[in-house]
Order: sequence, then C-alpha cells, then structure tokens
Amino acid sequence: MAWIWIAVLLLITFLYLLQQLLNSNKKKKLPPGPRGLPVLGNFHMLGKNPHQDLHQIAKKHGPIMYMRFGYAPTIVVSSPDAAELFLKTYDHVFCSRPLHEASKYIGYEQRNIIFGQYGPYWRNMRKLCTLELLSNLKINQFQSMRRTEVGLLISSLKGASKIGEIVDVSDKIASLNVDITCLMVFGKKYADKDLDEKGFKAMVKETAEVAAVPNLGDYFPYLGVLDLQGLTARMKTVAKVFDDFLEKIIDEHVRNKEDHKQTKDFVDTMMAIMESGDAEFEFDRRHVKAVLLDMFLAGMDTSSTTVEWVLSELIKHPQVMKKLQKELEDVIGLDRMVEESDLDNLEYLNMVIKEALRLHPVAPLLIPHASMEDCVVDGFHIPKASRVIVNIWAIGRDPKVWDEAEKFQPERFLGSDIDLRGRNFQLIPFGSGRRGCPGLQLGLVIIRFLVAQLVHCFDWELPNGMLPSDLNMDEYFGLVTTRAEHLMAIPTYRLHK
Ligand code: HEM
Repeated sequence: MAWIWIAVLLLITFLYLLQQLLNSNKKKKLPPGPRGLPVLGNFHMLGKNPHQDLHQIAKKHGPIMYMRFGYAPTIVVSSPDAAELFLKTYDHVFCSRPLHEASKYIGYEQRNIIFGQYGPYWRNMRKLCTLELLSNLKINQFQSMRRTEVGLLISSLKGASKIGEIVDVSDKIASLNVDITCLMVFGKKYADKDLDEKGFKAMVKETAEVAAVPNLGDYFPYLGVLDLQGLTARMKTVAKVFDDFLEKIIDEHVRNKEDHKQTKDFVDTMMAIMESGDAEFEFDRRHVKAVLLDMFLAGMDTSSTTVEWVLSELIKHPQVMKKLQKELEDVIGLDRMVEESDLDNLEYLNMVIKEALRLHPVAPLLIPHASMEDCVVDGFHIPKASRVIVNIWAIGRDPKVWDEAEKFQPERFLGSDIDLRGRNFQLIPFGSGRRGCPGLQLGLVIIRFLVAQLVHCFDWELPNGMLPSDLNMDEYFGLVTTRAEHLMAIPTYRLHK
C-alpha cells in the first residue's frame, strides 16, 4: 500500500511544480491566445482537421498565438512574417523537435531525422542522407529508373483508356511512388504482402495519422500509460510491422553481400558505415532502420499526395488543364512523352504546382518544432520547451499576402519571383531553415515529371457525368494531409504514338 501513497505524493509534487512553472510564465508577456479549460487547456478546440481549426482561432488572436494542450505550452504561427521570425531569425532556438509518443515508437526513440532532437547526431545523419540519397548526383542516377516506372504506369493507363475504364488515380499514383521509393531506398521493388496484409498505402496512411493526431499521452505524461485514445497501441502495431519489414530487408542485404553483389544501394551504404565503425556517432541497426523508415515514409507519401492534389485541381479547373496541355504541346509536341530534361522549359507547370502546394501543403502544420531555451519573439515571451506549430495551410490563405486566396489561379505567379524553396515565407510547403525538407529537390523532380506526363498523355474526365465543380476536395488530416476521397477519373490517351 505504501507505494500508492508515494505515487500520489509524487504526482501532487509534480503538479505543484508544474503549476509554479506556468505561473512564472504568466508573469512574463506570453502571446495572446484563447482561454483554456483547467488542466485540459485548449484540447477541446481541435476537431478532425486541426489546421483548419487553428486557422479560425488565429483569425481572432493573431499570427503568434499561445495555446496550452495539457501542460505543454504551444505557440501557433500563422503569418509569413511570424514564420520568418521562428524559422529564420530565431531558427537556432526553434530547430529542435519535442519528444512525443510517435517519436518514441515510430522514430526509434528519436534516432530518426524527422523527429530527432537538434544536435550532432541529427546533423550528421541528415548530412549522410543528403549525400547518399538526396544529392543532385544521386537524384540523376535514378533518372532512368523513374522513366521506366512512370512509363509502366502510362502503359497501364493507356490500357484503361482503350476500354473507357474508371481509374482509381490515387491508388495508381501511390503504387508508383511505393515502387520508385523502394527501388531508390531498398534497391528493389516489394509487393504489398511483403509488408503486411494491409499493404504499403494503408500502413503509411495509418502512420501519418497516428503520428499527427493530438495524443493525450504527450500532454499528460501520467495518462500515457492508460492510452485512452488507443493511439499508442496503434503506433506499436505499425512500428512492429515496419520493424519486421526493415529487419527482413537488412537480412537480405547481408546475405546478398556474401554473394558479392556488384551495385551498392542506400541500405548497403548504411550497413557498410555501421560495420566499419567509422561513423563519429552511435550507429547500430536501430539507427539504420530509423533512417530507412524516414526515407521511405517521407519520400513516398508526400510526393504522391502532392501529385493527387495537383491533378485534382487541374480536373476541377479545365481551363487551367487546357493551358498546361497547350504548354506541353508547344514544348514537346504530341509525338513523344515527356522527358525529365524537358522540365526546365515548362514554366506554367511550375506555376500550377506552386499554386496547388499553396492551397494543399501536404504537411499543413509542418512537423512540430521545439524551443531549446527561453526566447523573446516580437515582444512575446516564448518559454523553453514550447512546441511550435507553423500553420502553413493558414499562411497560404492569408488575405494580406494573397488576393482571392481561396481561388486556384496559377497565373498569380506570372512575373512573380515567389519561390517555394524556403526563401519566401508566404509559400513554404517544404518548411525553411535548419529543419527544412532535405528531400525538396527529389520531391520536386518526381512531382513535376509525373504531373507533366499524366497531363501530356491523357485527357481526364470525372466518372458518371460528374461536373468538375462537383469534385469533392475535403481533406483527411495527418502528418501528410491527403484527399478524404480517392480521386477517380477516366483517362483518354491523346498522343499520336
Ligand atoms: C512533395 C514532396 C515533399 C514535401 C512537400 C515535403 C515537405 C516537408 C516538410 C514540410 C518538412 C518539415 C519541415 C519542418 O518541420 O520545418 C519535411 C521534412 C523532411 N522531409 Fe520532406 N517533403 C517532401 C519530400 C521529401 C522526400 C522525397 C524526402 C526524402 C526521401 C523527404 C525527407 C524529409 C526529411 C528527412 C525531413 C525531416 C527533416 C528534419 O527534421 O531535419 N521529404 N518535408
């Protein structure tokens, strides 16, 4: 019985100290924000689409807003100027990540890059991946593989076109990206059943969801063990499925090494570094698996979801589709397919992709940042260990920087030097600063090539006489926010050959 009393005493002391801490913060000028409920804070204000809810709340309280989820102070950033302060001016303070349940279970206890805390380990791992997988040199090495894989998709769609079949475009694009990512990261394609009976797409979607939904266990550590939302159990399930799969892949590579395989892939490189003991940081099988999973999850879901959104907007706006097809016809002609070398000549395509990423950034709240020390930003006190959420979904709709922000109008970028690589804070779909996306170049090549090919080779029509204006554009929130409904459409082949 005595241990129960000790536990109660410890809990009361913990709550008392936390309250003192919060009170001391209150004396300093925190950013404005909505009042929270005792203990619970602002949890009750978020629904199924937290990025949309936070956008509405920020309209009332301003672009730098203080909220509290349980005991975790949270800063919500919702304008380009404010984003610049957090991701550029004070990037050195806000470039860490909070420890949360997802980083524990899915991120191998923060051994991955995505959820890794700022420090030498994260920096070295990020550098390694950039060099070994995400550099321009590596991206170019995989060009012919992308050409072949996209060619296979086009052939299959051509078959559907001949019989007027309705195609699950979301499914096709996701499958292609699974194949491209597997070939790049693991060195060969894998079938859905190699992972689990649910397959890659369902497991990746589940991961993006359980990692993003606000988890009570993250905000009330003493409630974590109870797992009231069942999220931790779901995380453990996906983590186990991916871990078994990665173990299998690593074992295969170890076996193949003994067979003196000629070409080295990313897994071989990671294993070689691990075995050499040359890494200047801790590097064992867990680190290899953490980074492989990063590259796989970050690589496949983001690109395919973006392509889906771009294509949906094009189908919804037939005049934009026609204009893009005209550009493709002028630059390439109707006698051949698109090559990656054509991409630099497709100016309108770039404008279409920017506009789609403005309205549908696939990571609408980026990935939460964490402050490493107390800091004063724009006159507001931001306590150490605050979570910082940058709502780029709201920034893309900020009426102060975007005219008729809700409308899909690629022409708004005509003659504009707004770029999406992290320099212009009104458009940061890849984030910016130290935590900005290291896969930006690769992601853009895949998106541009795939969209160009799908639009150049086919006309697209919605099934059952549905009008373009009726296409449902609802979102399904997760770390990667997808379409709520799959995009279904009928392709008609339009090239001469
Ligand atoms: C459409 C394509 C993509 C988009 C829109 C995108 C977007 C993002 C965003 C918004 C972040 C978080 C930035 C932040 O927290 O401030 C991120 C991080 C990251 N992305 Fe991407 N990404 C894409 C493709 C890729 C690809 C192809 C890879 C690699 C194969 C990749 C690897 C990563 C990694 C490792 C991080 C974590 C960086 C860190 O925390 O240091 N991404 N990405």
